[in-house]
Amino acid sequence: MQDNSKLKTQNSKLKKLAVLVSGRGSNLQALLAACAGGELAGLATVTLVISNHPDVPAQARAEEAGVPTLTIARAGYASKLAQQQAIATALREAGVDLVVTAGFDRIFDPAVLREFSAPVMNIHPSLLPAFGGGLHAIGDALAYGVKLTGCTVHFITADDAVDGGPIIAQAAVPVRDDDNEATLAARVLAEEHRLLVQAVACWCAGRIRVDGRRVLLQI
Ligand code: GRF
Repeated sequence: MQDNSKLKTQNSKLKKLAVLVSGRGSNLQALLAACAGGELAGLATVTLVISNHPDVPAQARAEEAGVPTLTIARAGYASKLAQQQAIATALREAGVDLVVTAGFDRIFDPAVLREFSAPVMNIHPSLLPAFGGGLHAIGDALAYGVKLTGCTVHFITADDAVDGGPIIAQAAVPVRDDDNEATLAARVLAEEHRLLVQAVACWCAGRIRVDGRRVLLQI
């Protein structure tokens, strides 16, 4: 049976967040802003940003905010597993309470996820379970012809399929007839920033209850 005990908030101190990134980092920026003076102020602080690619804009955003960054790239390790274990070790050493993967472009091996000392939350640019499992959710939704898409914040667990962990929150975005990938992505992204901060705030405040696959939020 799935063990969801790790997904619940344990106590009420200022929560230490680690954010895993691969590129632009606009969701990271939303979290940094919320910690500095928004919905996460007094609830959470970003204590570590880890990128799996060197010199990405997300790291510059973290440095600008005075947050330590690490690059743990595949090229520096003998195997993908060793690289992911290095990420797990860095998270454990930093003593983080919650890991957020925000635009992180790799899938964690379940064995490594089991070693994570904190729960993991992910933001995905579609209404899961539709258009999960890839890096082109917006283009895929547009090409499929759906009239509604959006974004999903979900937990990542070792027991669930890719993009298949318990859903924390979703926001819908209507697809317009004149949308292209860029216009649709921009509207979805605005919802991502809002939804991710809201979900993290709920978790940090202990307002999330996990009941099997159902995540119940007291907003
Ligand atoms: C977001 O759309 C996120 O949902 C997806 O990758 C994008 C990352 O954007 N996984 P950013 O790096 O947060 O700007």
